[in-house]
Amino acid sequence: MATNRTFTMIKPEAVANGTTGKITDMIIEGGFKIKAMKLKQLSKEEAGEFYAVHKERPFYGELVDYMSSGPIVAMILEKDNAVADFRALIGATDPAEAAEGTIRKKYATSKAENAVHGSDSDENAEIESNFHFDAEEVVG
Ligand code: CDP
Ligand code: MG
Repeated sequence: MATNRTFTMIKPEAVANGTTGKITDMIIEGGFKIKAMKLKQLSKEEAGEFYAVHKERPFYGELVDYMSSGPIVAMILEKDNAVADFRALIGATDPAEAAEGTIRKKYATSKAENAVHGSDSDENAEIESNFHFDAEEVVG
């Protein structure tokens, strides 16, 4: 069932670089409503659990170190067709391949440090939202 919600994180290097506001502006201007939002420091264990699907990939260790290297901003976003539209707004994983005008094209510094996360399915959006937020942290 489509929920019209997706989950995002502004990743540590983007928060550290001071682009949280600019990225949030692009999200709002892209038509997304923020339903939940918080600044959060992930432990290595939390980052490892969040990205457990990538456990066997060669970049997993670096990804866990990176995602726990500083605070992230987690958000639940709402829009018609949220998951696909948000993936379009952020662009390809590698900023070198991301389309002009996308968040990753503008703000990602590398394929690893690529500024933002975006859920890849309605099912994962729900799982990832529940990983970061309790029900009372989400506005109706
Ligand atoms: O984030 P996205 O869904 O676009 O990509 P992914 O394939 O699900 O990978 C998750 C994250 O792992 C990426 O956003 C990158 O931060 C990192 N990654 C990496 O460091 N090197 C790769 N070759 C692929 C992904
Ligand atoms: Mg992914």
